[in-house]
Amino acid sequence: MSAAPTNGELFARAQQAIPGGVNSPVRAFRSVGGTPRFYVSAKGAYLTDAEGREYVDLVAGWGPAILGHADPRVIEAVQDAAAKGLSFGSSTPAETELAELVEARLRVDEATPGPVEQLRLVSTGTEATMSAIRLARGFTGRELLVKFAGHYHGHSDGLLAEAGSGLATFALPGSAGVPAEIAALTLVVPYNDLDALAAVFAEHGERIAAVIVEASAANMGVVPPLPGFNRALVELAHAHGALVISDEVLTGFRVSASGWWGLEARVEASAYTPDLMTFGKVIGGGMPVAALGGRAEIMQRLAPLGPVYQAGTLSGNPVAVAAGIATLRAADAEVYARLDSAAETISSAVSEVLAAEGVAHRVQRAGNLFSFVFGEEAAAGEVRDYQAVQRQEAWRYAPFFHAMLDAGVSLPPSVFEAWFVTAAHDDAAIARIVDALPAAARAAAAAQPG
Ligand SMILES: Cc1ncc(COP(=O)(O)O)c(C=O)c1O
Repeated sequence: MSAAPTNGELFARAQQAIPGGVNSPVRAFRSVGGTPRFYVSAKGAYLTDAEGREYVDLVAGWGPAILGHADPRVIEAVQDAAAKGLSFGSSTPAETELAELVEARLRVDEATPGPVEQLRLVSTGTEATMSAIRLARGFTGRELLVKFAGHYHGHSDGLLAEAGSGLATFALPGSAGVPAEIAALTLVVPYNDLDALAAVFAEHGERIAAVIVEASAANMGVVPPLPGFNRALVELAHAHGALVISDEVLTGFRVSASGWWGLEARVEASAYTPDLMTFGKVIGGGMPVAALGGRAEIMQRLAPLGPVYQAGTLSGNPVAVAAGIATLRAADAEVYARLDSAAETISSAVSEVLAAEGVAHRVQRAGNLFSFVFGEEAAAGEVRDYQAVQRQEAWRYAPFFHAMLDAGVSLPPSVFEAWFVTAAHDDAAIARIVDALPAAARAAAAAQPG
């Protein structure tokens, strides 16, 4: 019997067949260097690579696996659904059930509907935000979109825009292949800066269709909104007749049973009602399900009721929807309590060991999402926007990451990503992480700017 191929051999072969050897760029390890792992199975808090090595996973499929990998309830639901047919290209009862589950989780209370009165299922977060923006434009009859620097909403043309300066600017394309005319319809504003947002509304208010915002930013590392920021931005947008799209693709049903909105809705001074929300990741339990939802009045502008076209062959796919329903049903208060406590234990342990090695850093937390910002500046003060995140000693992360990987702990392969726990991160999994930390912290301490 020939030996199983190594990760290196698999990567070399993948690079022949697939651009960069990957189907999504961060998987290529460009920001940490080295050879990406090729995983062949996952169970609970653990991944197994093609060489048979086991890793404690702190990526969780970039968010969906809140229950842990291959939870038996989800696998059984998927197997049952698959046995009944993979795709009908027509409606199924399960789609309504998933929409109702989401709407119920976002109610203000028993008697009061929340921000999501109706939901449209799609397959990816990119599709959800792209469709939400088209809907906002169709509803308002306006063209401009406001986004925040460092926020990621998927890879559609108008959303890759990024502004380098602290001033609000009409965006330059953030990728080759995006026409300047399309990028110019997006205005980029520094995050957590209400004055900058107000200035943009003062100048362009009548042309702005929507503000899109990560409910809590977690794609530049974790940068939570300042208290009251989301509420104030909704008020400002509404005062100018613009909509707010709260993007909870990453936070939705992960940071609480009702996402980031749920955490803020419980604090009166922070409560707000976005017009549209987008979901992904957890809502599909690891399968391709995402969604946009919002006020019925707006949602009913979508085809077939309204003039805003939106469609998908695989939208509401029965096997994928079964995974989403099983995940949401299983994600009870105990699951969220375990996510919170695992996040607390792991982030505190990392911080303690970094401090013991003299590595200046700051722990960034948004519910059970967390990440670390390296350097004296971050350690000394608040990190509230993309510029502050970019000024960090990012070069300390690659040696830290590789020391953890060598010790069997898989972290996000970039300092600009959140760490994700699952409810399956039990004491044994956490102990393996903790055991790996001292060597990794020493590697971060010894790192030199490259
Ligand atoms: C906040 C947010 N919005 C949108 C997306 C895009 O989702 P997808 O990768 O499913 O297209 C992501 C992906 O990470 C995300 O974090």
